[in-house]
Amino acid sequence: MNNHDKILILDFGSQLTQLIARRVRELNIYSEIRPFSISDKEIENFNPKAIILSGGSESVTDFDSPKIPKVIYELNVPILGICYGQQAICKDFGGTVSSSTSRSYGAAQLEILEKSMLFDDYWQPKNNYQVWMSHGDCVSKLPDDFKVIAKTDKAPYAAISHKTKNIFGIQFHPEVSHTLDGIKLIDTFLTKIANCKKDWKMGSFIDEAINQIKNRVGKEKVALGLSGGVDSTVVATLLNKAIGKQLYCIFVNNGLLRHNEVEEVEKSLKDNFDLQIITIDAQKKFLSELKGVSDPEEKRKIIGRVFIETFQSAIKDIGNIRYLAQGTIYPDVIESAATSTGKKVTIKSHHNVGGLPKDMGNLKLIEPLRLLFKDEVRKLGKELGVPSLILNRHPFPGPGLGIRVIGEVTEEKCDILRKADYIFINTLKENGLYDKIWQAYVALLPVKTVGVMGDARTYQHICVLRAVTSVDGMTADYVDLPHSILGLVARKIVNEVQGINRVVYDITSKPPATIEME
Ligand code: XMP
Repeated sequence: MNNHDKILILDFGSQLTQLIARRVRELNIYSEIRPFSISDKEIENFNPKAIILSGGSESVTDFDSPKIPKVIYELNVPILGICYGQQAICKDFGGTVSSSTSRSYGAAQLEILEKSMLFDDYWQPKNNYQVWMSHGDCVSKLPDDFKVIAKTDKAPYAAISHKTKNIFGIQFHPEVSHTLDGIKLIDTFLTKIANCKKDWKMGSFIDEAINQIKNRVGKEKVALGLSGGVDSTVVATLLNKAIGKQLYCIFVNNGLLRHNEVEEVEKSLKDNFDLQIITIDAQKKFLSELKGVSDPEEKRKIIGRVFIETFQSAIKDIGNIRYLAQGTIYPDVIESAATSTGKKVTIKSHHNVGGLPKDMGNLKLIEPLRLLFKDEVRKLGKELGVPSLILNRHPFPGPGLGIRVIGEVTEEKCDILRKADYIFINTLKENGLYDKIWQAYVALLPVKTVGVMGDARTYQHICVLRAVTSVDGMTADYVDLPHSILGLVARKIVNEVQGINRVVYDITSKPPATIEME
């Protein structure tokens, strides 16, 4: 690690802090996020080549708002303050920050006022550049040591720079894609101002992660819940490299998996990586606990509880497990600010990360992907040699078909759904559409309608095809699938799947709908 230049990102509680780290990684420069409350000693030991101060949801005008550790000004390294970071710098140097009653949120046009180290030759004075604002407070009086280098209509101090030192502040967010030249700005700060070398790669991440895991785990045993999805598979292969047979992958067959899923996952992971997989057939248990239950939340809770019980008993059977590895990735993490400001700002309560139940509390968590976004996990998986069949799989929810059989779940309905889903997904693959879609699946509705087959009247289920585009699952839109494909899938399903006589296509976006139907 000591060979790379390191960027310290101090987190003041913004939901975008992780995105800053990601942008720095995209530039092949190593960065770490630490809470603003980090000790002076830790900052010195970190030995940053540059420091970025994140945004934050609090107001620097509040008495107990997060403060910049003063030691960073003594290190003589370039500093870039973003939004809250800029305001906190201004306050430290004697400027004034005012709370505004209305939040400024959205796109704004940045006008470059003069060339500077930050706005180098790439930027043309008097030209406008789209930037993204998201703030309540703003700087109202500049400290004497600073000058303004760019402004927008509403933000006279949109970018500022210290007159003699490499300290910069920007009101907008260069880390979001809506700031069109944001990455260029971060690049300039890191490579031209801080002279960082771009020599950090995903391969370095693997080596570092393996070393960390080895050092932490020693000779102890680690258990991992394997789902066959991208995240848990990548964690499994990473841990396998680090600790080999000390890793026990537990794959629970809950009866709510897709067609051939157990066989495919076992085969591809055992064949390619010689992973130690323990498959537990708990189909009967899950289905009997779900009997008679049709409320979506109740179903989720039952599936979650039975999973934990099954998993716990598997761990007990193995014996002496000390660590639990999880494929938690950054978007799964519930809280953002909790670690830094102590005040919890909930982005979303994701269904994967519920925390460990109390009686599993003696297991220590290993989450090597916690700081990565999905596409970074895929990149990592590729480097680790995970087959593209697994890496490019669409997301599949933990409760599986349990939330795709709408209403009460039975084995028979799951069997019907598995067949229909297989036909839809295969048709998408055969027509080169699967990889262009973020997520596609079939759900089974709890209504039957009348149809006619041959000369006979049928009275069978309706199934719904769902295919969406999305970036992160938070918002989504339906895919405009060709009618010919929809028609083909409908014909195949009705002809080949006993139990379905009608197929519909869901054309709602999220919001107002969600991706899953329960
Ligand atoms: P929704 O339905 O909330 O789904 O729009 C967003 C994304 O999350 C997945 N999803 C889940 N994943 N456990 C999971 O691991 C769950 O309980 C769960 N519910 C939804 C969903 O498939 C989509 O990708």
